[in-house]
Amino acid sequence: MSELSHLELFSGIGGFHRAFDLLGIDHNLEVPCVGYSEIDQQAIKTYQANYDVSSSVDLGDIISFTENQETIGKLPDFKILTGGFPCQAFSMMGFKNGFQDERGNLFFNILKILIEKRPPFVLLENVRNLVTHDKKRTFAIIRESLVGIGYHIYFDIFNSNDFGLAQKRNRIFIFATRESLPSTFEFSQNKIKTVFDEFLKINTHSLEIQRDVLDVLDRTVNDKKYFLSERIKPTILSDGTGSYYSKSMINCLIARPLTATMVKLHRANQDNYYSLEFLQSKDPYAHAFLHQSTYNLLEKEIRRLTPKEALLLQGFSSDFYGNAIKKRVSEFQLMKQAGNAVSVNTVYAILYYLFVYNGL
Ligand SMILES: C[S@@+](CC[C@H](N)C(=O)[O-])C[C@H]1O[C@@H](n2cnc3c(N)ncnc32)[C@H](O)[C@@H]1O
Repeated sequence: MSELSHLELFSGIGGFHRAFDLLGIDHNLEVPCVGYSEIDQQAIKTYQANYDVSSSVDLGDIISFTENQETIGKLPDFKILTGGFPCQAFSMMGFKNGFQDERGNLFFNILKILIEKRPPFVLLENVRNLVTHDKKRTFAIIRESLVGIGYHIYFDIFNSNDFGLAQKRNRIFIFATRESLPSTFEFSQNKIKTVFDEFLKINTHSLEIQRDVLDVLDRTVNDKKYFLSERIKPTILSDGTGSYYSKSMINCLIARPLTATMVKLHRANQDNYYSLEFLQSKDPYAHAFLHQSTYNLLEKEIRRLTPKEALLLQGFSSDFYGNAIKKRVSEFQLMKQAGNAVSVNTVYAILYYLFVYNGL
């Protein structure tokens, strides 16, 4: 199997799929997606608007799909299983009973596919605190389960900002391989970043590469719906209180992590807001990092991110946004989808390192 065939679980808007597609274009590789699984109909719309799914199996709900071993067996073979799965605690009861009681835990459904299909490689993504979740039990069980069915495990935390995106986003990536790799093989953000930086220096590629948010922000946006109303400003711009105290800061050059709920407008000490003078100034750097205490932010015209900007900060393109809009996916949904997605550039860097640089 020389091609990079993949199965994308919890596909969302396909951050993994997009990275495979771009890698395929840049390195002349076949990257067929044999199937994808998602339950959110709006995410599926965005997915289908942007990828050729004519030869991919739509698995739908992973819980129903994995109910029957025979159905899993009918999936075409693939080289890599990918997925950013929801982080849930396991009950110790379920674990002791060999997962009998773990029907609700979606990691169990990934495992069922791995047991049946035994793909050579697995690449999973999750929030950084997966490692410490439920007193480290969740991660221990994930690790032991994968090792228990014959995989070798590697993992590290990757920050999207280290892979050419103007967003600080720390996520754990778990790489599992069925064959053991030489002891010299390294799976770390440092190593992969070094290789990726070298790659960017000498190659043409299809990635979105940003120095800071100014490479993403649209200076011409003037639609009132993106601007904070006078009514909401005092709430949004107030510093936190008590144990949540932190100063409001806007005009951050590297965006704070995008979230699925950012569309509901979080406070300015945990979300991304930009002032008009920053956006329109000839010297925007002079207006960066504005603090509530130093400036009266209430007097400024301030806006939030647009869905197109949010997608760009995750490594998707303007065309990707346009294709979803053409299929009538709402801006509200696109914000949620962008916040949920895996950063395309980080996945690209990892795939490049594994399959092009190391030739796995
Ligand atoms: C963290 S997001 C993954 C986003 C994706 N990696 C991307 O780049 O957009 C998790 C996704 O799992 C989906 N999901 C939750 N339960 C599911 C199930 N039972 N079957 C399939 N997908 C499910 C959610 O709708 C959500 O889109």
